[in-house]
Amino acid sequence: MTVFGKVHLGYLVIETEKFADWRRFGRDAIGMHLDETHSDVLRFRLDDNTCRFLLHRGSAEDTTALGWEVDDHATFETIEARVRSHGVPVSEGSAEEAALRGVERFARFPGPNGLDQEIYVSPHSGCEPLRLGAGGGFVTGAAGMGHVAIATKNPYQMRGYYSTVFDARLSDYIDETISGLKFKIRFLRVNERHHTVAIAATTRLPLNPIRTRIQHCNIQVAELYDMTTAHHRVKELGFDIALSVGQHTNDKELSFYAVSPSGFEWEVGWNPIVVDESTWEPTTHQGISMWGHTPQGQNIVDLFGRFKTGAQSVLHREDTVPALAGAGIADD
Ligand SMILES: [Fe+2]
Repeated sequence: MTVFGKVHLGYLVIETEKFADWRRFGRDAIGMHLDETHSDVLRFRLDDNTCRFLLHRGSAEDTTALGWEVDDHATFETIEARVRSHGVPVSEGSAEEAALRGVERFARFPGPNGLDQEIYVSPHSGCEPLRLGAGGGFVTGAAGMGHVAIATKNPYQMRGYYSTVFDARLSDYIDETISGLKFKIRFLRVNERHHTVAIAATTRLPLNPIRTRIQHCNIQVAELYDMTTAHHRVKELGFDIALSVGQHTNDKELSFYAVSPSGFEWEVGWNPIVVDESTWEPTTHQGISMWGHTPQGQNIVDLFGRFKTGAQSVLHREDTVPALAGAGIADD
């Protein structure tokens, strides 16, 4: 049984010490609903679901897990059985952990690049009325809450993993040069959203210049006005813009990228195309953007930091969860 189309990015789990900055960033700048009903945890909502971002206290300053909403118990059991059949352990989240995520129950198993994967069926609705700074709301539903981009030294294995576990399909490739390094980015979809996981890898050397487990996450606003006002608030409140407003070559999304308090980037986008499975053909685009997305304020210290992280990454072992990576998909 294929699970394609029945899997949707549901929430992210983040570990951070910077609660004050995240409150300002998430609520005041990006315009999400802030929920502080549990002590020592911050949560953000985008819609009726109780939790779209769960922030725990800890020193990682990183996203530590991806939560996947699946349509029904049959899909849940199919994914769980696949993972177990490859000899990879699946554990049940505790009742307390499930409550923090706003779900009935969830199962957890390891994912590549240190990102735990969590699957669940029934999300709870938040108790409080939704308070959003983005008046038009966020696009979630069948397309999920957005997407993540991950930098890796092992793109074939990572693509193999998401294909094996979630029946991910290739939407397209982008060839891009960033800070003098040539990258190939593979865009994978698990439902109608053009991509839910983007996999970025250098083409020559096995380098990963990105410290965090995700390079960025993306959320989608329904109204263009909410993207431009979020951009304005990010600047007004003193957070950094990583890439100015621009439009992507492949999914045509109009977006900007801010730097989140934990260091990974945060894309706010509007109006990406929706994939029609009956006609879609993967292609290769040159460059991530048709226009805009100009790097902002990147200085020599930032660049040096990336080269240092990249150089260290050569020696660092990256977990690929080989049992679930298939043979690895060699695609170029
Ligand atoms: Fe993106």
